[in-house]
Amino acid sequence: MFSQLQQPPADPILGLSIAFKSDSNPNKIDLGAGIYKDADGQTPVLACVKTAEKFRTENETSKTYLGSTGSALFNTRMTDLLLGEHTVIAENRIRTISTPGGTGALRIAGEFINRCTPGATIWVSNPTWANHQGVFQAAGLKIETYPYYDYANKSLDFNGMIEVLKKVPKGDAVLLHACCHNPSGMDLSKEQWQQVAEIAKETGFTPVIDIAYQGFGLGLEEDAYGPRLMANTVDEMIICSSCSKNFALYRERIGACSIIGKDTASADIIHAVLQRVVRVNYSMPPAHGAALVETILGSPELTGQWHEELKVMRDRISGMRSLVVAKLIENGVTRDFSFITRQNGMFSFLGLSPEQIERLKQEFGIYIVNSSRISVAAISPSNVDYLTQSIAKVL
Ligand code: LMR
Repeated sequence: MFSQLQQPPADPILGLSIAFKSDSNPNKIDLGAGIYKDADGQTPVLACVKTAEKFRTENETSKTYLGSTGSALFNTRMTDLLLGEHTVIAENRIRTISTPGGTGALRIAGEFINRCTPGATIWVSNPTWANHQGVFQAAGLKIETYPYYDYANKSLDFNGMIEVLKKVPKGDAVLLHACCHNPSGMDLSKEQWQQVAEIAKETGFTPVIDIAYQGFGLGLEEDAYGPRLMANTVDEMIICSSCSKNFALYRERIGACSIIGKDTASADIIHAVLQRVVRVNYSMPPAHGAALVETILGSPELTGQWHEELKVMRDRISGMRSLVVAKLIENGVTRDFSFITRQNGMFSFLGLSPEQIERLKQEFGIYIVNSSRISVAAISPSNVDYLTQSIAKVL
């Protein structure tokens, strides 16, 4: 049976990390996966997480099963973090479950949609996170794309986007990035969110909002503007969130899938279906990350510390955006890269050719995703000179 298998292509993002690890170049830089690194190139455990872990070790009394939806306290606190004081909470129309990371949330969302309408279509932005299509296809959905990024002008193709969204048939789903669009870093303005929400209401498509970087764009509240507005506008929607980046809990695999129904009775059915989808998939989510997040969000002191630690990460990335643009100019690059400072979150598209990306890898040990997406979060004052000098050479 196994001899029939063919070697699959390397994952465009994770495959790069594997190649990076085996590169012996002492100056190598990994701008591939979206992982926050500090000025020393480390991805430390947050201090608030360390405290929550200590609390857990000292106070945990049992490791018995929590059930398919995970910790109820985590689910409530994540819902509050996402939506604040929102009418869908007051109206008891939202159900949140813990999932293994944001990817787990997306997969569960895909399977849930497939239960509602087998083989339904989900529209994703062009471009989108390299794993979105694979996750939704694996859940049985068909994929279509809507325009999003204007490669030539390094800006948002909003007119192209809404022209296509207006024609999405009722019953299809549309995936939107709440903030820090992955891979382009270009986000919708408040006015643009308003227009997209109105189109969703008019056409009747189901919005699926991926919020994997809450707090990495403009701030925790600002980054949740889109999902909050959408939840005010439509009757039904899905939100997939992640604690990988904002709590730096990457390997703990904790995220959430929140689904809003048109009333309490439908929300209860949604919840029962979600439990079934999880039960036949991985049965139950891991508990550790959820326990840490619920402890942090349940303590004003730890929450305050988390906000500060998150701000440090956000500010460092935004500082690197300005620095990299200044250093490119300093190294004689005449092409305009100022767009990097107008984007949010971890990512930016450099607009380099596949040949230039290959040269950066082979000659300089600089690893960039083939689409020319870089993780700005991996740039630091100690590698920015080498990076920008190398880019200047390949240009
Ligand atoms: C990324 O886009 O680099 C991150 O979300 C990591 C991943 O799983 O791909």
